[in-house]
Amino acid sequence: MSQEPRPYYPGLDGVLAGETAISTIEGGLQYYGYAVRDLAEDATFEEVAHLLLRGRLPSEEELADFEAILVEASMVPDEVINFMSTIPLHVNEMDVLRTTVSALAHWDEDPSGTSNVTKAERLLGQIPILIAARYRQRMGLRVLQPQPDLSVAANLLYLITGDEPSPTQERAMDVSLILYAEHEFNASTFTARVVTSTLSDLHSAVVAAIGALKGPLHGGANEQVLRQLQEIGSPNNAEAWFRDMVGDKRRLMGFGHRVYKEGDPRAYVLKDYCVRLAEERGQMELERTAEIIERLARDTKGLYPNLDWPSARLYHYLGLDVDLFTPLFVASRVSGWCAHIIEQSQHNRLIRPRARYIGQTGLTFEPLSERESAE
Ligand code: CMC
Repeated sequence: MSQEPRPYYPGLDGVLAGETAISTIEGGLQYYGYAVRDLAEDATFEEVAHLLLRGRLPSEEELADFEAILVEASMVPDEVINFMSTIPLHVNEMDVLRTTVSALAHWDEDPSGTSNVTKAERLLGQIPILIAARYRQRMGLRVLQPQPDLSVAANLLYLITGDEPSPTQERAMDVSLILYAEHEFNASTFTARVVTSTLSDLHSAVVAAIGALKGPLHGGANEQVLRQLQEIGSPNNAEAWFRDMVGDKRRLMGFGHRVYKEGDPRAYVLKDYCVRLAEERGQMELERTAEIIERLARDTKGLYPNLDWPSARLYHYLGLDVDLFTPLFVASRVSGWCAHIIEQSQHNRLIRPRARYIGQTGLTFEPLSERESAE
């Protein structure tokens, strides 16, 4: 084996770890060649999910078929809903989602014979049901059935809150789902690709990806953003809170990005929807607090918002509880994960990198009876 020193990049920063035709960040984020800005302007999440899973935007007829498939796919076995009700109520919602997605695999028809696209469509339909059912079980509310004539975005809001959203609320949720859907080799997607590369199954890869997304440096950041904003309380406290945060060397959640060093373009798109919803709900004070924090972060730390910064406020204005925020990220990103799982399966090579060894070598083995304890 070669002993030549190899370059090492902590956190795999800047490393090209594979090839993909699904999305690129170069020249502005694009899904299969379409600017995400354009998709967020004119498309629906269903069109984007079709694009990600099938590699092209649907015609009107194809979209109608795809929507019908998602409605049919949204059936969750009663056994899974009943099992979910036995999970202790204090358990983190991402943990519950991870466990119940794993449980769904046991009821997936013919798991070895079904194509990954079909499994992906089922999960896309089922995950909103799991998120909403768990929320309503926890709140002691009746679990609702999806309405076949509502979009994924509208159904998500309806199933959770029990109210059909206004057109502005529906569009705001839809745009957040479009922006969250796919982002190249982010940590959770890479996790899904690693699992797939061992020839494991789609549910295993998605379950692992949910685990990776949960962390506060990744998808879990959107929940922490709202908690920090609530900690600040009002625009008057923002400057003092920011100074303390810097002094205590805490991370400002929803800011900074491994790839976007001068701002995440997705964050600017969603900010407009935040302002619209905040105005509608008379919550402009929170927008003013956010504005002050944005200015301080940029001017004093050179830090810019990422997508989790506006999405946390957006979901809050939509009347959603904070512990639903990262599960909602899953409801969208599952489309991107599955696109990568499908692509990885089609061009597979086991993902198995090397490590730079920094431990000891050449130690003399002593039998157990002769070994002294470390103290
Ligand atoms: N607050 C305070 N300091 C920060 C932040 C932040 N949010 N982000 C980066 N820095 C500082 C960091 O302390 C470090 O400073 P120094 O060199 O003095 O030690 C420097 O910037 C580089 O940080 P890093 O952690 O090495 O950079 P990275 O590219 O590994 O980090 C990140 C990317 C997203 C983990 C980081 O910016 C972060 O922790 N942000 C807060 C959590 C967050 O919002 N995550 C969501 C990420 S994007 C969407 C998603 O995946 O959901």
